[in-house]
Amino acid sequence: MPGYFPPGGGWPAVAKTTPGVIRGTVHKHLDRYIPSMNEAIQTQLRALSFDESDECTISCFEFAYSVVARSGSYAMVGKRLANNEEYLKAVKEHILGMIMTTRVQFLVPDRLKRYLGGIISRLATIGTRWDMHASRKILLKHFDARAAEYRDEMACPGGINDKGDPKSTDKPVEIFRWLFESSVLHHRWSYSEVLGEMLLLQFAFIYTTGYALYGALAELARQPEYIQPLRDEVEAVFANYGATVPACNQMILLDSFLKECQRLHPPAAISAHRVCVKALEFSNGIILKPGTHVGVPSSWIQRSSAYYEDPETFDGYRFVKRAAAGATNTSLVDLGPDYLVFGMGVHACPGRWMASALMKLVIAELLIRFDILPGAEGSSQGPLIGSLSFEEFYVPNFGLKVRLRPRV
Ligand code: HEM
Repeated sequence: MPGYFPPGGGWPAVAKTTPGVIRGTVHKHLDRYIPSMNEAIQTQLRALSFDESDECTISCFEFAYSVVARSGSYAMVGKRLANNEEYLKAVKEHILGMIMTTRVQFLVPDRLKRYLGGIISRLATIGTRWDMHASRKILLKHFDARAAEYRDEMACPGGINDKGDPKSTDKPVEIFRWLFESSVLHHRWSYSEVLGEMLLLQFAFIYTTGYALYGALAELARQPEYIQPLRDEVEAVFANYGATVPACNQMILLDSFLKECQRLHPPAAISAHRVCVKALEFSNGIILKPGTHVGVPSSWIQRSSAYYEDPETFDGYRFVKRAAAGATNTSLVDLGPDYLVFGMGVHACPGRWMASALMKLVIAELLIRFDILPGAEGSSQGPLIGSLSFEEFYVPNFGLKVRLRPRV
């Protein structure tokens, strides 16, 4: 993140700490974030506009991305900003601007990157609808204002009681607050590093989860036979538990459906990137030198008949059937060598429980309130991977649409 993290200084301490913070907050205390997730979903649904035939056409990605951006912002910066439309627009534009900038950077030969990389970062998205620098300015303005609020509360005796310690409160911990307070109170990292981490985390949280939810919405419209069984499950579970963490844990079919969507539509072709810090010799004699960059071809593995029967066919019941046959590692958040959407090992995604709960709550709400129909004129049918995709990264097909009709 040029301009925020120290140049050439390696991975800063703040970036090494955030996964632990996420495990200690949004994973361990997921239940505390559920009310704000539900509120974000309701707010997003209220913004839908229906035509005279009582139908609303939504872009799968735009809807998924917006609801995740709003919900993620509750967890990252609190309720006020999660309801600030200027902030949310900047969050979404900045993430897509980062992706487009990276795409342009890939076109530059390596030997020229050190000379042109900085200029390209500045210019790549100027004048487009994803102007990274314009949206970053807006984000920084809001971050500064929020940080000033935290500072005021910290100065006020008794005004703040949850100094990043999730045990001392039953309220959800805002990630920005935790990082900011640590920078001020313990000087563990600078404010600019906190900002850099927030911008990266927005990508890690919002783009990935938005992409996964986008794939699920598109598949729901294409595979209408799943709608009623999923709706039956969700209605039965909500009747017993309401929209809660235990409810999400009970949605077995929806879990399998989402996992199948992610198996076929991961956000990138390669996962679990690592750089060798010392020479590594494999049993077949291949030696990786220090500095070698390695990654796992997850997209290929997840479509391989070595791991999956009839791998190209969408089977929403696939993981339910595997569990019934006694297999372990069948739930959406489980990791395994045949399912690498969330990576693997110590650096596996710490946000996957939140992503799973959020996707389930959104799909559940849609199923309960709406008939989900294919978009008009085949607009649900194109490829999920959009034409702006590059290298290993999948960019969505922004044209995929579904129709929602309120159920009577
Ligand atoms: C469907 C949604 C998501 C997907 C597909 C996803 C995927 C990934 C992947 C592939 C990695 C790298 C794992 C590795 O190198 O082994 C990762 C890391 C990470 N993710 Fe996620 N993620 C998602 C949602 C989230 C959410 C909601 C958050 C925040 C609450 C989050 C925060 C992070 C962080 C902080 C890391 C870095 C972990 C580390 O370096 O130790 N992710 N994610």
